[in-house]
Amino acid sequence: MVVAIDGPVGAGKSTVARLLARELGWTYLDSGAMYRAVALSLLERGGSASERAKEIEIELGERVTADGHDVTEAIRTQEASEAASRLATNQAVRAALVAKQRELLAAGDWVAEGRDIGTVVAPDAAVKVFLTASPEERARRRAEELGTDWRVVLQDQTLRDERDRAREHSPLRAAEDAIELDSTGRTSEDVVHQIAKLVRQAG
Ligand code: DC
Repeated sequence: MVVAIDGPVGAGKSTVARLLARELGWTYLDSGAMYRAVALSLLERGGSASERAKEIEIELGERVTADGHDVTEAIRTQEASEAASRLATNQAVRAALVAKQRELLAAGDWVAEGRDIGTVVAPDAAVKVFLTASPEERARRRAEELGTDWRVVLQDQTLRDERDRAREHSPLRAAEDAIELDSTGRTSEDVVHQIAKLVRQAG
């Protein structure tokens, strides 16, 4: 079974998906880490984006490895975030990573998080959630993680949001059958509790 959690950056997807996976005893799939890992690899070594996306061996878990190298921290830098956002507009890269994601999701129980899980990767997901929060709250959460000024984060976030929503291939949008949840002013535990309830109802 798959629970799909999509939404913009800073909506709380990662925290919610991680906690939910732990609560259900399911596996967590961070699809964004895959885009980040390919982007980082291209920044470091150059080469063809589509070839790298096909060839790269990514292991997701407590640590993230790409072709055997631990990239857990390196994929979270501002530079890697920016490169991943640009790379995510490349259709051949998306096709290669979607194929890898589908392969993983084919067996077992998953909480999968991203931008296109409910619309493209797993359109048959048992539960689809589109998680949002106000732009200011999203920027504040990110700024707290990064230790920077939230107004600077807000500027950067607005640009990445626009790119995610406006891109030609798999733009960020809620699946028609997704439940939209606004996490503004709510704790992650509260949101997780609500989704876990939906999963129990669906199961
Ligand atoms: O969720 P994240 O910030 O780690 O994602 C990194 C980038 O990859 C982000 O710009 C959006 C993109 N992405 C995507 O296009 N589709 C996904 N399923 C996951 C991430």
